[in-house]
Amino acid sequence: MTAYYLTTPIYYANDVPHIGHAYTTIAADALARFHRVRGDDVFLLTGTDEHGINIERIAAELGLTPTQQVDAVTAAFSALWAELDIEYDRFVRTTEPTHRRAVVALWQRLQASGDLYRGVYEGAYCPRCEAYYQPDELVGRDCPVHGLPCDNVAEENWFFRLSRYQDALERLVRETDFVQPTARRNEILGVIRQGLRDFSASRRLVRWGVPVPGAPDEVIYVWIDALANYLTGIGYPDDPKTFERFWPAKLHLVGKEIIRFHCLYWPALLLSAGLPLPQQVFAHGWLTKDGNKISKTTGNTVDPRALAAEFGADAVRYYLLRAIPFGQDGDFTRRAFVARYNADLANDFGNLVQRATTLAARHAHVPVAQGKPGAPEIALREAADQLSDRVTAAFESFALHEAASVVGHFVGEVNRYIDKTAPWTLARQGSFDRLGVVLDHTLEAARLAAWYYVPILPRAATDAHCRLAGARPLPGGGTFDPTRRHVVNVGPPLFPRLAQQVGDVTLAK
Ligand code: MSP
Repeated sequence: MTAYYLTTPIYYANDVPHIGHAYTTIAADALARFHRVRGDDVFLLTGTDEHGINIERIAAELGLTPTQQVDAVTAAFSALWAELDIEYDRFVRTTEPTHRRAVVALWQRLQASGDLYRGVYEGAYCPRCEAYYQPDELVGRDCPVHGLPCDNVAEENWFFRLSRYQDALERLVRETDFVQPTARRNEILGVIRQGLRDFSASRRLVRWGVPVPGAPDEVIYVWIDALANYLTGIGYPDDPKTFERFWPAKLHLVGKEIIRFHCLYWPALLLSAGLPLPQQVFAHGWLTKDGNKISKTTGNTVDPRALAAEFGADAVRYYLLRAIPFGQDGDFTRRAFVARYNADLANDFGNLVQRATTLAARHAHVPVAQGKPGAPEIALREAADQLSDRVTAAFESFALHEAASVVGHFVGEVNRYIDKTAPWTLARQGSFDRLGVVLDHTLEAARLAAWYYVPILPRAATDAHCRLAGARPLPGGGTFDPTRRHVVNVGPPLFPRLAQQVGDVTLAK
């Protein structure tokens, strides 16, 4: 079995999750589920980033201790993941003692490599990004990501020798497909070519963090702390067996605003620590509303729990994965959400499952596969046989929207197959041999669509598979076999059609 270790970023525990956080996690879960049905040894890691000056400040504003603050937010994140059917293997909290041990172990390796030295930092710091900025990176006096003023920081602390890894990082990014997609790789190459500067690796003014070994009045820079979660999650340093089974990670899935940390800092820290590098970082785009990034700072958030409560988790997953080309930005509107739900889920997939199961139940007396497949069946089989390659190619290239659309296209073909073969006419004419063939092909094709939809619509696709085949979807079920025995159950519509007006209400928090 191939190990497939993938991660989401760990989310700042400064506020409850919004739809942008759900986006990354849903994408990671779809990929993880795809690799699980393929038979890979999958490990999906997520968690919360609980240290840093921002959390300290927000807790103080709310009159809470940092611990009360992060406990409440972490509970909101895990509740959301349960509602969205996210099957993660481990949820790391950076306040866990095991994580602190991992951070200290990593720090000691950096020190042993001679990559930490004392220096003085003076300049801009964005507390929301927890990042230092050079004057030429600022927009006026503001942070380039948040558009808000940076703090001016002047302190002596530890520096990490990022500059030492300039050539190694350039080779890594230029010669391999470590950074995906291409636009992000070019962006990182541009940053490297400007010359990499060492960065502050500890903070004196921050209390809420992992203390620097031997210097209890300083904490380790929160991004070193946060990145180390990818090691903690699979047992570093206490469980070397699990760690060796899964490290290096196959994929770090991140949003495009944090590539500098994942594509430069992280590989440099690992090189310094003498640990193997992850295979790939894929950066997706932003969910926007009216063209602006959805974020707490902008105040235009959308609550994914409310959306899932109203339309179901599958509908939320489907919209995010299908409507936005993965890697690009995409605007989120309720009207588009409802339109897609109705077109693809209610009218196409839901309808197919309903038609196939109802037809089969109505003609349950028809003998199995007595007649011979004709031209429509041969065409259907061809489409079914191509499904596996197409879905696999889409997932392997992180074209998650494509994976969803390939299955959706097949659903359309099966619906057209039913229209063309008109089983109701065959029944009226008493052509039972032919009807048997059509029913078997219909059920099997619908089952196959459900099987391939599982990573995207886990709940509805599993339900559909059970209704069409009398069994849950299992690894190995991705081949088309109309001689399969189908034990059919008719159920209520999987995706009841929504009135279009539901889409007119604006999306408020
Ligand atoms: N804590 C850091 C990550 C540390 S990883 C070692 C952090 N946290 S965050 O809470 O700000 O959110 C991180 C991720 O949430 C982004 O990288 C992105 O994946 C996701 N998103 C947050 N807002 C988003 C959108 N509006 N659209 C899409 N994804 C967004 O950064």
